[in-house]
Amino acid sequence: MDNRPIGVFDSGLGGLTGVRELRKRLPGEDIIYFGDTGRVPYGSRSPETILQYARQDVAFLLSRNVKCIMAACGTVSSTYPAAEAARLPVPYLGVVDAAAREAAFATRNRRIGVIGTAATIRSRSYEKLLRQLVPGVEITAQPCPLFVPLVEAGYVDHSAPEKQQVTRLVIAQYLTAVREAGVDTLILGCTHYPLLKTMIGEFMGDQVTLVDPAKTAAHHLERMLSQRGLRANRESGTAHFYVSDVPDSFVQTADLFLGEYKGGPVDQIAIDKY
Ligand code: DGL
Repeated sequence: MDNRPIGVFDSGLGGLTGVRELRKRLPGEDIIYFGDTGRVPYGSRSPETILQYARQDVAFLLSRNVKCIMAACGTVSSTYPAAEAARLPVPYLGVVDAAAREAAFATRNRRIGVIGTAATIRSRSYEKLLRQLVPGVEITAQPCPLFVPLVEAGYVDHSAPEKQQVTRLVIAQYLTAVREAGVDTLILGCTHYPLLKTMIGEFMGDQVTLVDPAKTAAHHLERMLSQRGLRANRESGTAHFYVSDVPDSFVQTADLFLGEYKGGPVDQIAIDKY
């Protein structure tokens, strides 16, 4: 039993999709979330810069006495070296491993699609793992850089069909080749993509399984905490949010990713001090 908080971080607020899943699975846990809103996006940056940022994000969470760290960010999870993660003083979990395993389990025809930021696709993180897990797998990988700004600008809003129309056009532009490749499983390899799940699902068709890394990672984290005897022993936990830009727009954006935003303090920190 361990009542210290779980540390979660992301390049911005998209990682709150991970917090939402953790809240459902582990309601008794305290969560410390860091969103690097002052330096988002990470997905278009070089591996060196992403690594430097990720190290600071991890150092901040460690300074808050967390019992484990979850990188909710697809881009960080794809680039943070496993050897470095293994040397951290607390268990570290990214989203790539769990999602790749889920996709390997789900595929029937061994054709898997992967979408993510430019940095995630360039890293080939999913490809490397999937090739180990599924012999003879055919992978179709596609960066979708416009999905993040579309989600953040509210172009998924069901009450605004004309905005959704724009998003549908972009989805068709990015995913036509993926659909034509005949994939039966598609990994939504970025924090923001679960918000496009319905529209992506409509485009890809019912026969395609969509893998949501936030969900699978939350499941893995739950299992890991149980196996190591690190679960908290309380009914309901709290969440404390930290950001690196002014927190003004936090509540509005948090609502988008968290579903039912339950509150919790939001503080700004100077991440470059870590
Ligand atoms: N959180 C990032 C990811 O999941 C998307 C936003 C960004 O590019 O920083 O890859």
